[in-house]
Amino acid sequence: LKREMQGGVFLGASGDLATKKSFPCLYGLYKRDLLPEKVHIIGYARSKFSREQFVKKITQHIKTDSEEDKKKLDEFLKFTEYISGAYDKEEAFKDLDKNISDWEQKNKLKKGQKNRLFYMALPPSVFLSVASGLHNSTRTTEGKNRLVIEKPFGKDLESYKKLNSDLAPLFDEKEEVFRIDHYLGKEMIKDITTLRFANMLFSPLWSGYHIKSVQITLKENFGTEGRGGYFDEYGIIRDVMQNHLLQLMSVLAMERPIRRDANAIRDEKVKLLRSVKPIKMEDCLLGQYTAANDKPGYLDDETVPKGSTCPTFAALAFYINNERWDNVPFIMRAGKAMETSKVEVRIQFKALPGILFEDAPHNELVIRVQPNEAIYIKFNNKSPGFSDDCLLTELDLTYKNRYSNLQIPDAYESLLLDAMRGDRANFVRDDELEASWEIFTPLLHRIEKDKIVPEKYPYGTRGPAKLSKFMDRYGVVHTPHNQYQWPIQDVA
Ligand code: BG6
Repeated sequence: LKREMQGGVFLGASGDLATKKSFPCLYGLYKRDLLPEKVHIIGYARSKFSREQFVKKITQHIKTDSEEDKKKLDEFLKFTEYISGAYDKEEAFKDLDKNISDWEQKNKLKKGQKNRLFYMALPPSVFLSVASGLHNSTRTTEGKNRLVIEKPFGKDLESYKKLNSDLAPLFDEKEEVFRIDHYLGKEMIKDITTLRFANMLFSPLWSGYHIKSVQITLKENFGTEGRGGYFDEYGIIRDVMQNHLLQLMSVLAMERPIRRDANAIRDEKVKLLRSVKPIKMEDCLLGQYTAANDKPGYLDDETVPKGSTCPTFAALAFYINNERWDNVPFIMRAGKAMETSKVEVRIQFKALPGILFEDAPHNELVIRVQPNEAIYIKFNNKSPGFSDDCLLTELDLTYKNRYSNLQIPDAYESLLLDAMRGDRANFVRDDELEASWEIFTPLLHRIEKDKIVPEKYPYGTRGPAKLSKFMDRYGVVHTPHNQYQWPIQDVA
């Protein structure tokens, strides 16, 4: 492994992401001996924290089960430091530079070893001033610079283009910019490429000749609680569909890349995204949750503006204009405050002409992204024994049953390591984002212009009442529920 980044600066270190993900994942990498030997990790934000407060913040989500773990955590903490500084003052970025340079000098790093990774998890209002501060005063001239950036990447095609053209002169797209979409770091999403392109069993079936529909579903059994301020500006479509679920869809539907390298993969994703037709209003169902089951409704959240029509649920149907996917609906669903939490892909195959086995249920291939990673196939089998009945059953690859000592890294762990190694296969390229905004922008503008009011659904349910009819329209068939059910203990 080539772990090149010696200096890491996490900007936005007082925020949720740093506390819940960045620092716990850096510690996870350290524990697995995947951080460079000499590394200096700086948390940077405007808030003033003492060393104790900072340590408390970044360790509150870290579990240390043994004395060994505690020792490791103490060692890890020695590499960390917190700096409070402005986001809009040149002096602050000069001070940051000096801090890193002093450390480099003290540790006798040579030219070529002085690599710096800047990770920006920041609100859009300060994004550019920070990027230009880093560019003017903190980037190194004696090693590599990498800029890892988090969404939001604009709100529509136009604002995205503006953001990108402002960023382009500051950090180099090809060498330095790493746009994170943490879904690309998830084990099962990374697995899709292997599943598709390393198996004769699946590869020839992967098209509209055999596939009837594809469902991509993200459900969360909690609301926006306290995050309503951010969420209301974006809504569920921008929050998880235009990025996470569309990335998943592009990996699922792209043609085979000519190689497994970053650009070959991303070339195919872009080609696919450019073939997706912009979503029509009639292929969209919006929802917003209301109070139920002792839980508050979206509008009861104090951080949400009164009377907001922001959707917390959406179901969208996409069509891809190419030979492979002609007329196959891709139905994407995402919602907050639903009956369960899960992310899955469900590929439903066409029925065989029912000459011998009338009404045999459709085959399905399900990729369970979370919780409890699994791939399972629903298929028809003779009922064992004297009966000749055709019975729906499953081939079930539940990871934790199949792989002993299973250790799946957190998506952020995996992506941080990729960024340190300079592998951008699982980072989003500028033209991918442009193509994805082209698909969503007309719909988003229409929803806003016409002030479309979402359908209500009670907290803790499957979404608006109209959902079943919506799914029926795309030919989604329900597997008989007296037969295969996901084992109860695996449903969170
Ligand atoms: C984030 C969204 O990008 O992804 C959140 O802003 C959402 O609203 C989260 O909850 C989902 O990520 P995960 O990894 O928990 O499925």
